Amino acid sequence: MKIKSHTLTPHTLTPHTLTPHTLTPHTLTPHTLTPHTLTPHTLTPHTLTPHTLTLGVSSENLKFPTELIPKGSKVLDVGSGSGVISARMRDELGCIVTGLECGQEESNAGGCSIESSQRMLGKENVIVSTLQAYANSHQCRKFPVVTVFKYNVPLNQKVEFCKALTRVVERDGVVIIHVVERERAFRDPSNLHLFLIDELRLNFNDVTITERHYGYGPTSSGDILIKCRDPKVN
Ligand SMILES: C[S@@+](CC[C@H](N)C(=O)[O-])C[C@H]1O[C@@H](n2cnc3c(N)ncnc32)[C@H](O)[C@@H]1O
Repeated sequence: MKIKSHTLTPHTLTPHTLTPHTLTPHTLTPHTLTPHTLTPHTLTPHTLTPHTLTLGVSSENLKFPTELIPKGSKVLDVGSGSGVISARMRDELGCIVTGLECGQEESNAGGCSIESSQRMLGKENVIVSTLQAYANSHQCRKFPVVTVFKYNVPLNQKVEFCKALTRVVERDGVVIIHVVERERAFRDPSNLHLFLIDELRLNFNDVTITERHYGYGPTSSGDILIKCRDPKVN
């Protein structure tokens, strides 16, 4: 059984429903994880394993792979959302950041993600579009660094989205896709629709995966970086 975040309540969160299969970053959100739902009764060694519990990481705490994003680089931040991470790259790494946001999802800070990105980065620094539409437009520019933090693109756009990434990155540049769901980076036969690596390898010659961990014990979390270089069509 797969649990949707809106169905995950103190009532539904039981040892029976908390299984490796149901615990995903999508279902485990600050909204569903409350002192009510997190009780010794629901949290058992059986339900909480390093393999199943990847909580993701907040935009404020996310660590930048500085070896891939040199100080001062020109970055296209695709799906900039709230704009918090884009603004951090600008302020902490001195990058010149262009956000790209289509408004598919609300900002995780609440409200419209386009407006939020524009507030954080300045209107002139945000492209309002899907990546696919931008990549096919005459305005399309190429960037040495393209980031996609907390990738969450509609499933029916996955193929075109991965292809579009090759058009916005410079030939010797890098695309960094940050994911918080293991199934996006590691093949899971029951969740192949989420898996990105096959699609990315169709478009890039060099695709590598790095899994990272933050902290230890029950509050530990993690994320995954997928690095794509050497676009096949550019
Ligand atoms: C999970 S949010 C992550 C937002 C931000 N990167 C962060 O880490 O806080 C994913 C964002 O990607 C945007 N998005 C989804 N599909 C997109 C597409 N095809 N092109 C551009 N942005 C897209 C959504 O609107 C949403 O703001």
